[in-house]
Amino acid sequence: MKLLKAVRGTKDIFGEDALKYNHIVNTAKEVFEAYGYSMIKIPIFEETNLFKRGIGEGTDVVEKEMYTFTDRGDRSITLRPEGTASVVRSYLEHKIYGKEEFTRYYYTGSMFRYERPQAGRQREFNQLGIEALGEGSPILDAEVIAMSYTLLEKLGITDLEVNINSVGGNESRSKYRDTLINFLTPSKDELCEDCRARYERNPLRVLDCKNPKCKEITEEAPSIIDSLNQEEREHYESVKKYLDIFGIKYRENSRLVRGLDYYSSTVYEVITNKLGSQGTVLGGGRYDNLLKQLGNKEIPAVGFAAGIERLMMLLEDYPKNNPEVFIAWLGKDEATYAFGIAKALRDAGIKTCIEFSSRSLKASMKKADKLGVGHAIIIGDEEMANKKMVLKNFQERTQETLSIEDVIKRLKK
Ligand code: HAM
Repeated sequence: MKLLKAVRGTKDIFGEDALKYNHIVNTAKEVFEAYGYSMIKIPIFEETNLFKRGIGEGTDVVEKEMYTFTDRGDRSITLRPEGTASVVRSYLEHKIYGKEEFTRYYYTGSMFRYERPQAGRQREFNQLGIEALGEGSPILDAEVIAMSYTLLEKLGITDLEVNINSVGGNESRSKYRDTLINFLTPSKDELCEDCRARYERNPLRVLDCKNPKCKEITEEAPSIIDSLNQEEREHYESVKKYLDIFGIKYRENSRLVRGLDYYSSTVYEVITNKLGSQGTVLGGGRYDNLLKQLGNKEIPAVGFAAGIERLMMLLEDYPKNNPEVFIAWLGKDEATYAFGIAKALRDAGIKTCIEFSSRSLKASMKKADKLGVGHAIIIGDEEMANKKMVLKNFQERTQETLSIEDVIKRLKK
């Protein structure tokens, strides 16, 4: 019989990786809640049109990466490739804008993109992200960038570069699009195949193509900043000012355009050089037009998302989850007493593992050693008769006979 394997581009997360995953999500939750964000859980699949309209028909995500299928009710359904469109859909559907002026959500979970798998790039991957809806101040853009940076700092992830840019609103972008097409036209035939296709549909994407020839061609490309109107320019200047105030170092990168069409002013990415070609740890920006696009509402919004697998690859320090104590019982009748002790320790919040069959003391201690516990409890007939137990401290190489109350006190110290 052929052993079944996980589908290409998907990964099981267990053992050390599960510890890292949990540590990242728990830390993110702490940071986001400190900034006033609350959790939203969005569906794994949505109507395909949400992503087509939200992310944009000309994007790689919509054009070639979506997991789209027809369900049994003949609807076109897509597994979410990202979270922003769904959060906005939910916010509009539940008319949250009528209930509060400013809404802050965070989310975590798997996203699906049919990309070529490689280190740091999967077809099912996990994101943690936030969306802040209802506030147009550039201070919020800077705060979101600073918050995401704080999260990376709390995770001990260093050697990062914050790249920022502004892609402007529809009018400025369309002006820049023409400027860029003019600039690219003489070298059009030298662009890579993908960029030749992008040239007409989404020329801004040519700017972040990784192909060396395309990079060379766009080296001297005009900057999008020059196409911004007065208001957009002032917004961008304010974002930079507040980043300085918040102590965030950044690089202005006029080639940064992001792969999703909904951005309307500030865009940013945090990049590492430790992950090879998949060096973008997180990215986001302001998307003031998306709520108009999806629900005809003039509501400004900003957000970001990070790839959890990429964070896991960079994370070095995380809490281990070893049990603190291992209980060994010798003889036949000690099991009921020993399991009662295990429950009392667990109720007191002490991580406890226990033997499931009576073994030699030597075999049990070997097991305890493998588990990496600091203490073992040994219960024999004498201990059971006296309602006591032997507590062995591996580090200090000591051994005492104690009551359960005293054991709890020792282990709680
Ligand atoms: P994104 O840049 O498409 O933005 O994805 C955010 C992050 O998800 C990336 O920086 C990367 O770390 C991770 N990521 C993306 N694709 C993959 C993949 N195939 N495998 C592993 N990790 C991946 C968004 O998704 C926007 N929704 C962010 C946002 C929120 N903008 C505003 N609000």
